[in-house]
Amino acid sequence: MENTLEALAARCADCQKCALGQTRTNLVFGTGNPHADLMFVGEAPGEQEDLTGTPFVGRAGQLLDKFLYAVDIERKDVYIANILKCRPPKNRDPLPEEEDACIGYLREQVRLIRPKVIVCLGRIAAMKLIKPDFKITKEHGTWFEKGNYLMTAVYHPAALLRDPRKKEDMLEDMKRIKAKLDETEAI
Ligand code: URA
Repeated sequence: MENTLEALAARCADCQKCALGQTRTNLVFGTGNPHADLMFVGEAPGEQEDLTGTPFVGRAGQLLDKFLYAVDIERKDVYIANILKCRPPKNRDPLPEEEDACIGYLREQVRLIRPKVIVCLGRIAAMKLIKPDFKITKEHGTWFEKGNYLMTAVYHPAALLRDPRKKEDMLEDMKRIKAKLDETEAI
């Protein structure tokens, strides 16, 4: 089969590798520019995402859009996906077996998109992609090099909705991400 994002999405469409395949409305594969230099990875679809099949379209996603706008990044230019492609009931944290069943799809997405910078949205994505003991309060905005990728993590937008005092840090982190991107593009 063809080695493209669309072919991968088609392969993943009827996934029943874990029990979430039974409860989802829509699988949320990911959206955006298939050649993006910047890729965001969240945790798992929420209610609105499950209903629409698109990541980060609910309240958290709308807040993410505001931060992208603030640093002059257009959503259409980035790629957005999640660790899990299906919504966990009542938005509970992903289970290890769900992450293990699903992570191969994300790794394949990353290999096909080949972004320069990967930004984890929140601690769940950072613990899975950067390191298991990632501490979001202490380590958000820190850069890590993994393979060919520059990686960092920022607060999950849902955490900013719960605690708006974190928005200042988020804006600083997003400015640093934009600067890093401009820097890597200038080389
Ligand atoms: N939260 C996430 O982590 N991902 C989404 O797609 C929506 C909310």
